Amino acid sequence: MGVQYRRKFLQQFLSGSAALSVYPWLCPFADEITDLTFEGDTEDRYWKKVRKQYTPSKKFINLNNAGVNPQAKIVQDAVSYYENLSNEAPSYYMWRIIDRQKDMVKEALANLVGVKGEDIALVRNASEALETVIFGLPLKRGDEVVLSKHAYPHIKFAWQQRAERDGIKLKWVSLDLPSSDQRYLINQFDEQINNQTKIVCVTHITNWNGQVLPVKQIAEVAKAKGAEVMVDAAHTVGQRPLDIKSLKIDYLGSSLHKWLGAPFGTGLLYVHPTKRGKLYPLMAGPNPKAKHMKKFEHSGTKNVALERAILPALVFHNSIGTERKMQRLQFLKTYIVDRIKDMPGITIQSPTGIEFGSAILLVHIKGEKNFDLVQKLERNWNIHCTLSENEMLSGIRISPNIYTLLSELDTFVEAMKSLTKI
Ligand SMILES: Cc1ncc(COP(=O)(O)O)c(C=O)c1O
Repeated sequence: MGVQYRRKFLQQFLSGSAALSVYPWLCPFADEITDLTFEGDTEDRYWKKVRKQYTPSKKFINLNNAGVNPQAKIVQDAVSYYENLSNEAPSYYMWRIIDRQKDMVKEALANLVGVKGEDIALVRNASEALETVIFGLPLKRGDEVVLSKHAYPHIKFAWQQRAERDGIKLKWVSLDLPSSDQRYLINQFDEQINNQTKIVCVTHITNWNGQVLPVKQIAEVAKAKGAEVMVDAAHTVGQRPLDIKSLKIDYLGSSLHKWLGAPFGTGLLYVHPTKRGKLYPLMAGPNPKAKHMKKFEHSGTKNVALERAILPALVFHNSIGTERKMQRLQFLKTYIVDRIKDMPGITIQSPTGIEFGSAILLVHIKGEKNFDLVQKLERNWNIHCTLSENEMLSGIRISPNIYTLLSELDTFVEAMKSLTKI
């Protein structure tokens, strides 16, 4: 069943003859992973099997997966393989062999996010994808851009830079988070949108506390008022199902090195077909007004091994399945929340349900400095995590992953017990 599933998945995008002819290149890193189908396993056995596909630190318990995910071993091996191959004769292997398989990689990736290969560009990260939109849009003095104070810092910086240079006006959305009130979340955006608004920027899952925003409904409101919509999906791809087409948005950018577990330094950009012509690429190509996505991929010589190894990351991801992964992440988060929420001084600053909450958990301990807590966790329990402070949110940010052991979470719970003892 497992092998059949993988073959079926491969066949889905290996349907063209050009793709079939490259199958031998794909084979070692897409079709030979350990069977990850669920049948016959208990939950516990299954997720231990998944963990074996990774190379986690023997020293640290990594609870900062929201920063960047580790790659499964098969992905690491693929990166090395294509990197070594490139070094045998770089311009031959990189440009005549590996790069020519890019369309196949894009087709498989597009399949995951509900569009076609020709609808996306491979870029280096979410910042590059989103800044292509921020700096490439034709905007003039007085045009307004709506964005949240909980947007990712570099996205805010990019819009601030654009505002400073071009005189566009930024309208900031304030959100009282965490929130599970869909109407409230939509209204906060709605209130800032008017007939000067050219684009509304929505972070689907915020890095600050894992809040999930009702992106589809916010997009509907924005579109009804004639604004375009850009979505930061850095934490969505690979963490929860995403169907770009059904969102009816104009632009979307994501990292692939976060929850998809693709190589570090990979990302995707989606631009609606009718918006491609007017969006200038960040790095110039022969025709900046072209209506295809390839114009966004001219970034000089780059590491094609990384792009090529997105494919085994996808095969690995699909062998588990987005839905199962999302449920497991929810389970892990709930496992922590249930054990720490009633400890003295603790406030959970993330939504705990699956509709508005994600794999990212923000924990506040009264009277403690977040920086000190992060240090203590590392020094005394070998737990690696980070802090998160923005607007009213303040705490240590905990983000487990599918390879995280329950015993590791038990260590975190023990640490919290000790840290909250008065
Ligand atoms: C919400 C959000 N958007 C964008 C980014 C930028 O991602 P990248 O590092 O891939 O550019 C991050 C990174 O953490 C993020 O959390």
